Amino acid sequence: MSSMDKAENVKEQYRDDSNLSIRIKLHAKHSTNKQGLNPWLFEKYSFFEGCRILELGCGNGEQWQNRIPKLPESCMLVLSDLSEGMVKTVWEKYSGCKNFLALQSDIQKLPFPQSCFDVIIANYMLYHVPDLPKALSEVKRVLKNGGTFYAATNGNGGMRTFLLNAFRQVHPNLETAFGKTYSFNLQNGREILSEYFDTVQRCDYEDSLAITDTQDLIDWLKSTISISTYREEHLDKLFVYFEEIRKREGVICIPKETGLFICR
Ligand SMILES: C[S@@+](CC[C@H](N)C(=O)[O-])C[C@H]1O[C@@H](n2cnc3c(N)ncnc32)[C@H](O)[C@@H]1O
Repeated sequence: MSSMDKAENVKEQYRDDSNLSIRIKLHAKHSTNKQGLNPWLFEKYSFFEGCRILELGCGNGEQWQNRIPKLPESCMLVLSDLSEGMVKTVWEKYSGCKNFLALQSDIQKLPFPQSCFDVIIANYMLYHVPDLPKALSEVKRVLKNGGTFYAATNGNGGMRTFLLNAFRQVHPNLETAFGKTYSFNLQNGREILSEYFDTVQRCDYEDSLAITDTQDLIDWLKSTISISTYREEHLDKLFVYFEEIRKREGVICIPKETGLFICR
């Protein structure tokens, strides 16, 4: 098991939405694809009148901002997360919306009878789950026959390769989490999901980062400390390394590898 899916690290990391918000901020401020990931995701999702939607590992529910009232008539939306702090955040944000519920639950043991939902979403969270087969069996159990499962995730290249290279140059003796592959990623996702679904489509979102403020990148790294192998004391030298790139090139360009699996 890696530091990314160790239960106590994941709990600590997502006790509340402060770490996640820092990471969302980096992408919102410095991404080169101006469409934005959430508008792109909502182009891919198919919702219909009366649709029952469940999101697992919803985090702070950012993707639903200003979108719940635009769902088709009589849709029901359940946002759920393992973290009570995240559930509290989404409840505070959206409890005024019609047909909305927020619920604390573990994807590995869902508190629903079988065939309840038309759509289930699990974005950027399957790689944190210790028992992925159990989680996906649960998704399949509570999804209606003919329903759709959406799972966004990252690839093993992109940011990870860039950051691994930086760590190798600055802290060559430090083993970093960026050297380990995600347990569920863009490269292996189709094969994993095909065990549970008849069709699995992979859609890539083309994007990169062009960072003009080095501290934003350091804050991003700091926010991942509880699910990483490096510590705060390593960040000062990394700041100097990244700042040199920024001064030399004007921006720190980092590729991204991210996308969505659509499963039926
Ligand atoms: C990287 S965040 C992604 C949040 C959100 N889906 C997004 O795309 O912004 C991962 C989330 O998964 C949640 N999580 C981790 N393990 C989980 C589990 N076993 N069951 C449900 N949620 C889990 C965490 O608490 C955290 O909120």
